[in-house]
Amino acid sequence: MRTVAEPLLAWYDVCKRELPWRTTVSPYRTWVSEIMLQQTRVEAARAYFERWMDALPTLEALAAASQDELYKLWEGLGYYSRVRNLQKAARIVRDDFGGFLPADRQKLLSLPGIGAYTAGAILSIAFEKRAAAVDGNVIRVFARYLNIHKVISDDKSKQALANAIEKIMPEGRCGDFTQSIMELGALVCIPKSPRCEVCPLRETCLGRAAGCAADLPTLPKKLDKKQEKMTVCVLRTPQGDVFLRRRPEKGLLAGLWEPWHCEGYLSEQEIKQKLSDQGIEVTEMAALGHRRHIFTHKCWEMEGWLVICEQAVGFVRVSPKQLQEEYALPAAFAPFLS
Ligand code: ADE
Repeated sequence: MRTVAEPLLAWYDVCKRELPWRTTVSPYRTWVSEIMLQQTRVEAARAYFERWMDALPTLEALAAASQDELYKLWEGLGYYSRVRNLQKAARIVRDDFGGFLPADRQKLLSLPGIGAYTAGAILSIAFEKRAAAVDGNVIRVFARYLNIHKVISDDKSKQALANAIEKIMPEGRCGDFTQSIMELGALVCIPKSPRCEVCPLRETCLGRAAGCAADLPTLPKKLDKKQEKMTVCVLRTPQGDVFLRRRPEKGLLAGLWEPWHCEGYLSEQEIKQKLSDQGIEVTEMAALGHRRHIFTHKCWEMEGWLVICEQAVGFVRVSPKQLQEEYALPAAFAPFLS
């Protein structure tokens, strides 16, 4: 492990990408970027991050934002509990911590949405503290470097890896070290076909020496996701407005806007009957085809329909402009509305 920091940082200094959260660093910016980057690719997160910082440049602005504004800024990123937690935590920081994110692991961990990874990232990147941030990329880099074949994605193994990384973090460059490991995982030590020939750690990498870097890390067995079949109807007026309703304030995708949908696959006749029972009279309809949306814990199998109607009781009529600017929809439904 001692031979890691020097070549890795030298490589990072030359090869790192210019990313908006790297050009100006602050605890708030690091926090928001790290939450965005959980489950979102860097290239996709870039534009979201810049838009977010234009709209909500400070923690106080985040704490004071409306739910609709937050959801609109997050629309398409998925995992909306992340953005709800960001705001909950921002309000706690404003009310209880004097408006500043604390440079203290326990205090950070007490905030909603901040776990060991995010706390480590904030502490090292924004506060230059010796704190590791271990995610899937970091596990892959070190499972290969140390040629570890057992599963190390459980909390105990991650903690052990964090301790080992903290021991070799170079004083004064803790943040760069954290980001250099992430960068290596993103650009060189990539999941399939690692680019060992250009890796700054190739001379001392045990996985490469053993010829099995590409096979590591060993991943835990995946559980089958629960499948939910559903029928989604985009209710639209002849003029092109759509009818949406707000999802409940609790549970999956809470508070976002959605089109009409129901459990199971319904035939055209069954859809007309069901809508008619709810006071919605269909004048025309057309199949939009099948879409699948995969969440961490389940999978939606959706049959989509475009349904033309004049009105829909219990729904809000939304113009195309409003849909684009004000109403945040879960990514799962977006293909049917585009
Ligand atoms: N993935 C997670 N955090 C990152 C960061 N700070 N830079 C690049 N990729 C990342």
